[in-house]
Amino acid sequence: MKILVIGSGGREHALVWKLAQSDSVTKIFTAPGNPGTAIHGENVPIKADDIEGLKAFALKEGIDLTVVGPELPLTLGIVDAFNYAGLKIFGPTREAAELEGSKVFCKELMERYGIPTAKYKKFEEPGPARDYIEGHPVPVVIKADGLAGGKGAIVCNTKDEALEAIELIMEKKAFGTAGSRVVVEEFLTGEEASFLAVTDGETVLPLAPAQDHKAIYEGDRGPNTGGMGAYSPAPLVTPELEQVIMDTIMVPTIKAMDKAGRPYTGVLYAGLMIAGGRPKVLEFNCRFGDPEAQPIFMRLQDDLLPVLLSAAEGGLDKLKLDWGGKAAVCVVMASGGYPESYEKGIVLKGLEEAGGMEDVVVFHAGTASKDGNIVTSGGRVLGVTGVADSIKDAIEKTYKAVEKISWEGAYYRRDIGAKALKT
Ligand code: AMP
Ligand code: GLY
Repeated sequence: MKILVIGSGGREHALVWKLAQSDSVTKIFTAPGNPGTAIHGENVPIKADDIEGLKAFALKEGIDLTVVGPELPLTLGIVDAFNYAGLKIFGPTREAAELEGSKVFCKELMERYGIPTAKYKKFEEPGPARDYIEGHPVPVVIKADGLAGGKGAIVCNTKDEALEAIELIMEKKAFGTAGSRVVVEEFLTGEEASFLAVTDGETVLPLAPAQDHKAIYEGDRGPNTGGMGAYSPAPLVTPELEQVIMDTIMVPTIKAMDKAGRPYTGVLYAGLMIAGGRPKVLEFNCRFGDPEAQPIFMRLQDDLLPVLLSAAEGGLDKLKLDWGGKAAVCVVMASGGYPESYEKGIVLKGLEEAGGMEDVVVFHAGTASKDGNIVTSGGRVLGVTGVADSIKDAIEKTYKAVEKISWEGAYYRRDIGAKALKT
């Protein structure tokens, strides 16, 4: 089968790396891809949001399955366009992807169907939002309704911070039209986990739970990033808790989407806050997590292709997944300065030595090829991922690989996985 993977991050390299191991896959194209995806196939210079360009390419090449990495093409309706053209594609339709694309839609759906989440109020004008904040205790979390590149949720510890967030989102329009509406949410405490499941709209097949590290600095301090590292399994998510998450969140959400006339297929990613063994939804994403996909796919023992194909065409009830007995840890290496501004074009050293280690894969994210070198081209540059018998061993192995890689200004957290050892 010919596969097209859309996107250019570490998640997409992990998807391509895993799919390349399938006996049924003959060729993988990635659009636009990165030097890591080029190792396993061919990169095509079409942007992830160029839906017409991607569709024309898939038709011309006779692509058997397209797998969408990032959320933007999904919320723009790539699945609808491909379905209409008779092309098979993994992911939710535009209307179903609103679960990630609109916080207001997501909160209203959860409220209506009793899916556990933080209390909230929505606002379409800054004035009433300000009045509400004045009369409400802090902390609160203020969220732009639409997609904001992972920066649209602002945790506010004081009323002034909350008023500033309203100004930033609704008046200064820092996230454009994504900020025409906001959600003001109750602040939840606890520990976060990422719970992903693949679905064909009926069967909901859970993937192994993972935990991300969103903050830039050690000890979960500093501004949020796309994710500085992840591990799987997540000891916090016991088998009992997993069942609670499936019964109270994942299955009810897929059923609710069906009742709302927006049947959901693809992967559903729940960002959860867990306190006292009770999970609440912080957000839903309609795509695989990045970097969570890296450790999850490294643990998966089965061929990924039938999983994605069954989600796209039905029949997921016939599959069961084997996660083996091992643990995986991914440490993100980033450009100095990320998540603010950073330099690009710096030559990376030590990639081959690190990648040559047993049970280690160096997933590329913000990299580019230049004059025979691999150089930095984004904030999150690499996702170095190692597998071992325990999380402790996987942490050790992964950091050994990380230490072999260097470039000027490289930054990574030294405490990835540490919270798993405390659970
Ligand atoms: P979101 O984009 O909604 O997932 O939010 C990004 C991050 O903000 C989450 O991963 C949490 O760390 C934090 N966050 C979001 N909502 C809440 C909440 N209601 N209470 C506490 N922290 C939150
Ligand atoms: N790692 C967080 C995300 O993929 O949204």
